[in-house]
Amino acid sequence: MISHPAYAIEPWCLRETELHLEVLAQSESVFALSNGHFGWRGNLDEGEPHGLPGTYLNGVYESHPLPYAEIGYGNPVHGQTILNVTNGKIIRLLVDDTPFDLRYGRLESHERVLDLRSGLLHRDCVWTSPTGRRIRVRSTRLVSLTQRAVAAVAFEVEPLDEDVRVVVQSELIANEQLPEAADGDPRVSTVLAGSLQPEEDVANGTRLRLIHRTAVSGIRVAAAADHTVSGCEQAEAYGESGPDIGRFTVTALLPKGRPLRLEKLVSYGWSRVRSLPAMRDQVEAALTGARSTGWQGLLDEQRAYLDAFWAGADVEVDGDTEIQQAVRFALFHVLQAGARAEGRAIAAKGLTGSGYDGHCFWDTETFVLPVLTCTAPRAAAEELRWRQRTLPKARERAAQLGLRGAAFPWRTIQGVECSGYWPAGTAAFHINADIADAVTRYLCFTDDKDFEVDCALELLVETARLWRSLGYHDAEGRFHIDGVTGPDEYTAVRDDNLYTNLMARSNLRAAADLAQRHPEPAAALGVDDEEAASWRDAARAIVVPYNPDLKVHEQCEGFTRFQSWDFADTPPERYPLLLHYPYFDLYRKQVVKQADLVLAILLHGEEFTAEEKARAFAYYEPLTVRDSSLSACCQAVVAAEVGHMRLAYDYLGEAALMDLEDLQHNTRDGLHIASLAGTWFAVVGGFGGMRHRDDQVHFCPRIPENLTRLRFTVQLRGQRLQVEIDHRDAVYTLAGGPPLTVRHHGEEVTLTSGRPEVRRVPPLAGVGPEPAQPHGRRPAPRGPREPEPP
Ligand code: BGC
Repeated sequence: MISHPAYAIEPWCLRETELHLEVLAQSESVFALSNGHFGWRGNLDEGEPHGLPGTYLNGVYESHPLPYAEIGYGNPVHGQTILNVTNGKIIRLLVDDTPFDLRYGRLESHERVLDLRSGLLHRDCVWTSPTGRRIRVRSTRLVSLTQRAVAAVAFEVEPLDEDVRVVVQSELIANEQLPEAADGDPRVSTVLAGSLQPEEDVANGTRLRLIHRTAVSGIRVAAAADHTVSGCEQAEAYGESGPDIGRFTVTALLPKGRPLRLEKLVSYGWSRVRSLPAMRDQVEAALTGARSTGWQGLLDEQRAYLDAFWAGADVEVDGDTEIQQAVRFALFHVLQAGARAEGRAIAAKGLTGSGYDGHCFWDTETFVLPVLTCTAPRAAAEELRWRQRTLPKARERAAQLGLRGAAFPWRTIQGVECSGYWPAGTAAFHINADIADAVTRYLCFTDDKDFEVDCALELLVETARLWRSLGYHDAEGRFHIDGVTGPDEYTAVRDDNLYTNLMARSNLRAAADLAQRHPEPAAALGVDDEEAASWRDAARAIVVPYNPDLKVHEQCEGFTRFQSWDFADTPPERYPLLLHYPYFDLYRKQVVKQADLVLAILLHGEEFTAEEKARAFAYYEPLTVRDSSLSACCQAVVAAEVGHMRLAYDYLGEAALMDLEDLQHNTRDGLHIASLAGTWFAVVGGFGGMRHRDDQVHFCPRIPENLTRLRFTVQLRGQRLQVEIDHRDAVYTLAGGPPLTVRHHGEEVTLTSGRPEVRRVPPLAGVGPEPAQPHGRRPAPRGPREPEPP
């Protein structure tokens, strides 16, 4: 996309200067607006042409039976799929007697701009109708970050050469026709047509309202709109409605050069328990609130919200304008995914598309929450509180599996397991430790004492219980966790996955530590000394697979003796492998879908020596094919840590451009929120070298040759910490309250507010040769370097 000539590279916006229908669906994802509560894809105002229409409310899904060829105990029987709900963005236009449809007539100019500072999507185009009428259409759209139920559109049409009769139809449409989903790709969503059952439709003056209920999941969905027309005194307007449509129509004979302006406010509400009258009042009230704020007021609030965000989150990358743009684009979309999710999940695609059925995975805790913890900590806490609220379901799932504590779902919308495929579903038990890890990270960065007692403790205790019951001590006392899948989904249901074991170890220890620190609340959760001691025993004795002959850690027990995958004989068109080879073959060979052991190094570096890290990276690089978008960012961070700065930089490029260049060919289904979040971590964790350990934040800054300077801000214990790095020095500046201690390449540095501390960046030493990737899988090089051998 961004390499498409229609896209310009600018530091604070994403600009499209021509409309290309072949990338329309992708553009709808990158131009999506959301606040985490609900989301609008970047569909054209007039609704068509479209790639995939999309309006998503966080937590609104439909249930459907999960089909199995053979019944198996413990397999979830119901799936949940995000629904495309009532579309409130549509504004159709009739120009004299022809519809404004860009597939006809002539598009003279076109521009769409997503402004990352104002949070607005602007459009400006000039079009000549098939009958020769030339008009300008301008629109500005926002999904409010301050009034979470509200979106707004300002739409203007202006005749350019002569007087023209226009009819503007502003609509709410439910049960839109959706394009057929691509066959055979497990990453797209199940299409559920006609799931919204009408309950009420009203048109009253300038207001419209539609209320529906989902057929099986029983969620009531209300949408309302209000309108203000200006610019033409002679305009006639009326509203009408039917079961699936509310329409406000304005018609006018527009004099040349005089734009007609329509401001549309839209509000959404949804609930499984609230009555129809209550929902009606809820959306009407949200509209009234937005109306009293006014269009300009909404714009001002949006700007103020984003100004505050960027002041505590911005990343400046000097020397690579494309990465600069991509990092801010990434931060913006991660914020949009989580800002107002408040008590609901953050899905793998955020609210930008229906890919992966709108499910939330470990992506959230392992990739998205590190960013939110450091840039919008309240949003991170909210997400973890959502996990806490789903604990009853996770306990039920554990009990169903004969386990103790909580087994959180691999994929879900509202807390129940929705994965019908055990090996890359429930067997990926590591999600429980990933949640625990997000909890401890949040505590380290925020020191939020209330959260520690009323949320963190329970999550850590219940996940520790799971590990203690899932694993066992063997005759020698070693603690094993058998039959699990780690992050690499090309190796499944194996014993002692190293990543899982190290994550479980820290989960068990963190639970024991917190229970010790808060004995009374821990006792209320049923924790006694014996149980806490059993967690410490298991953590101490957990197996960490290692091959002493190769002197390399094993991804799981026996991994390094598996047969090698024949990479030389795997042509580029057969990637991703999951779509072209049977899983049984992937499972028994050394081929890695995504960073697994390398992610363990990233998250638990303290468990490895520097030599072990370098050797492990060199061993796993030639096996890792990056068929998941979650991989490149992790490889970037560890490549930087072991000193392969060029490679780290190339991986950063891949993570950063995942959606802007549609590298996985599925951006149409929604953005890869984890990869976007990983882009930030590739910069802050990779080149800033940021990690947290034992309640302290560490930095090991070092930037690659191609960059001249890097500056980023993170929030630490309620203060802003700015880190600025060039090839010689790192400067740490704290803005806020009391002094804080961090580490710079191991050295303790005490920071006092407003007094920058400068430290030297030590030179790189003892770096081995750069490892190769599987044949044909080298990341695209950024800047000049040698071509890959044939
Ligand atoms: C990855 C998982 C990830 C999921 C959703 C899969 O392709 O292997 O790790 O959670 O996508 O992003």
